[in-house]
Amino acid sequence: MTAAPLRLAIAGLGTVGVGVIKMLTRNANLIERRTGRPVVISAISARSRSKDRGITLKSFDWEDDPVAMAKRDDVDVFVELMGGTDGPAKAATEAALNAGKDVVTANKAMLAVHGNELAKLAEDADKLIRFEAAVAGGIPVVKALTEGLAGNEITRVLGVMNGTCNYILTRMETAGLPYEEVFAEADALGYLEADPNLDVGGIDAGHKLALLSSIAYGTKVDFDGVVLEGIGAITIEDINAAARMGYRIKLLGVSQMTGRGLEQRMTPCLVPANSPLGQLEGGTNMVILEGEDSGTIVLRGAGAGEGPTASAVMSDILDIARGTRISTFGQPVGNLVASKPAKADTPAAFYLRFHLQDKPGALAKVAAGLGEAGVSIAQMRQVEETQGVAQVIIVTHKTSRDSLDRALDAVSGSKVLDGATVALRIEDI
Ligand code: NAP
Ligand code: HSE
Repeated sequence: MTAAPLRLAIAGLGTVGVGVIKMLTRNANLIERRTGRPVVISAISARSRSKDRGITLKSFDWEDDPVAMAKRDDVDVFVELMGGTDGPAKAATEAALNAGKDVVTANKAMLAVHGNELAKLAEDADKLIRFEAAVAGGIPVVKALTEGLAGNEITRVLGVMNGTCNYILTRMETAGLPYEEVFAEADALGYLEADPNLDVGGIDAGHKLALLSSIAYGTKVDFDGVVLEGIGAITIEDINAAARMGYRIKLLGVSQMTGRGLEQRMTPCLVPANSPLGQLEGGTNMVILEGEDSGTIVLRGAGAGEGPTASAVMSDILDIARGTRISTFGQPVGNLVASKPAKADTPAAFYLRFHLQDKPGALAKVAAGLGEAGVSIAQMRQVEETQGVAQVIIVTHKTSRDSLDRALDAVSGSKVLDGATVALRIEDI
């Protein structure tokens, strides 16, 4: 006898929603064989009913209101693929949980901001929220942390989690083009989010890192605790200077539990060019998980796009169809502790680029500012001089971010700068 079908309601019929419907249709037999039951769509919803989405949707009930759809009696799982931190995504997710439905979502923004309260709501209702697609698209990193590495103390999570930024940085390097030109190219290719600052400001990747930290360290999601810095200030000179030293620049997420608290940062960093992260090209993502017993696990793949993201959504749907029940962040909500953001970062060497007025004593003032704050110089070179402004690159020995900030304040106060200073961590990986 065939088991009862798992009945879905899908809200959002854009890139991901359409991809999920295509996979569900194309792989219906495979899904039934693997889960022992059919997975069917009861209803769908989006803003526009008349939009041509390139697939036939006639066999599914249409709902104008995703919140009403989430509560339907003929729905077991609400699949939220609309996006947005609040609005209908959150309202419909809450409605679904309150009505006794499990939820699958790809929405990192909603979970990074409201994940703690939604996880509590799910647990109180004895329902699930699954979000494999929310982090690094097609890479099964949530599953790796919640299941594959479940018995490990996780010592560090790091990675490149925004394909658009990695595309921009690698394209600047390979084509020798300035940031503004490659940004426009990424826009024309449709790579950027509706609000591009979510990508280039590091926010989208910061959302993803905050979710992984919660699973890795058993802490409540703390997106506000993620130190964020975008890629907008990176120039081709930085990329070339980094390359000369054997490094590449990546928007790198690092999350690490230290004796001082939880460090979470999503910032442009120099990474060794011959490391797995240093070799990552284009829009690809990479997440590295370090477990006390597992050692280092490197996951690489497409972080976005119709197929890869739909694949991740499907993995959550199949888990629910099979009866796999795992708490939202890998453990009961009551076990998650408040995250204590680390007051200071683990020390690192830094790459600095100063725009210096080309006059006697200017460089001495920079050296003095660094020295007085206890920041030691490992390398220094002048890379360019135009119209009386010299670009000077300095690599420091390992130092704390606090000391570096004191040094940069002192240099800035010495009135020898003519432009913003770039300061990038050199990450040991
Ligand atoms: P999208 O192409 O912009 O599609 C969004 C869909 O949601 C559209 O069908 C839209 O309807 C519908 N929608 C938006 N606001 C709505 C509202 N107020 N009421 C009802 N429907 C509404 O977005 P997407 O790229 O598929 O992304 C969906 C989610 O997946 C987001 O959370 C995103 O962050 C996440 N995600 C996306 C990717 C990716 O590669 N695209 C990767 C990982 C995660 P209309 O079509 O009628 O306008
Ligand atoms: N804007 C995101 C990226 C899409 O570029 O990686 C997937 O979250």
